[in-house]
Amino acid sequence: MDDSRFISSAEALPTPFTTICEAPSNIALIKYWGKSAPQLPKNTSLSFTLDSSITRTALNFTPQKSTSFSFEFYFEGVLKPEFNPKLEAYFNQIRAYIPWIENYHLLIKSQNSFPHSSGIASSASAMAALSVGLMEMERKLTPSLSETACSEKASFLARLGSGSAARSIEGPLMLWGKTEYLKKSSDYYAIPLKADINPVFTTYQDTILLVDKGSKPVSSTQGHQLMHKHPYAAQRFKQAKNHLKELMPILKSGDLAGFMQIVESEALSLHAMMMTSKPYYLLMKPNTLAVIEKVWNFRKETRIPLCFTLDAGANIHLLYPLADKKAVLELVESDLKNYCNQGDYLIDQVGRGAKKV
Ligand code: DP6
Repeated sequence: MDDSRFISSAEALPTPFTTICEAPSNIALIKYWGKSAPQLPKNTSLSFTLDSSITRTALNFTPQKSTSFSFEFYFEGVLKPEFNPKLEAYFNQIRAYIPWIENYHLLIKSQNSFPHSSGIASSASAMAALSVGLMEMERKLTPSLSETACSEKASFLARLGSGSAARSIEGPLMLWGKTEYLKKSSDYYAIPLKADINPVFTTYQDTILLVDKGSKPVSSTQGHQLMHKHPYAAQRFKQAKNHLKELMPILKSGDLAGFMQIVESEALSLHAMMMTSKPYYLLMKPNTLAVIEKVWNFRKETRIPLCFTLDAGANIHLLYPLADKKAVLELVESDLKNYCNQGDYLIDQVGRGAKKV
């Protein structure tokens, strides 16, 4: 694809502008693990957009005479210069696509709905909220921009901040990466899966068990790098492709047995890649494995379609239909919360994506 269609020709305005946007986190069903420059995925990924695990970001654009962009970043009300290198790298990646930004000083104030040290990856919601806010400014400068063009460019910009952030713009199901199964799919931005989604998936539940709240010994970005010389990389990308092929009809039919099998296999394959990287590493904790066993036993005994997935960490996402919420939350309260750090867990569900507040 030629990404020149994302280069704005808008002129900056001499007036200040403020916008507040929210974007959710997301949980991948088909995992993105492995990428090439510029942040393009080695395989197509698919995720549920979440609803209440969100970042809210206020952007304040002040016109400045000099034509060199500057910014300040506050998190939960406190100036955080330690985030500047990551934000600078992000703005350097995207400034060619939003050249109007050179005429502004940008004040960024962010907060998360979930606890900071929960072990929940916040880069997806943070980068998506920031990108949607930038697109609100671009929409003001270019009123003719369509909703779809805005969403696709917000996803494109978010991707350059963090790959998985590309999938936090809309919902409830987002697909990122070119695939023969969807004509409009792209490596450059994620798109919502709209047609023929079985209603069971439009209200799916995600209860996040906070098994470990500490910071991870190996970041996702480092993990992606380790896929370059990984002995099983080619096979893994093929597996993800096959899983997507199998999952697409399941999302239509609502075959929950098939769904659970693919989703759990993806989670364990992701962690298998970590365990077989060079150097190898482990992000699961003993309690992660204990909960997985419990989920399998519960499913066998009750026939309730509860399954798990993992992101790049020890926490467990319990995925299940809305109809089973009461039974699953009883299991969490009576048993699974004992495996969580300080008994903490988050109750979430699929959501519709980012929005202006
Ligand atoms: C395991 O998007 O966090 O959550 O692109 O380097 O920012 P960067 O990585 P990131 O990787 C997410 C990996 C994952 C799987 C997924 O979300 O698909």
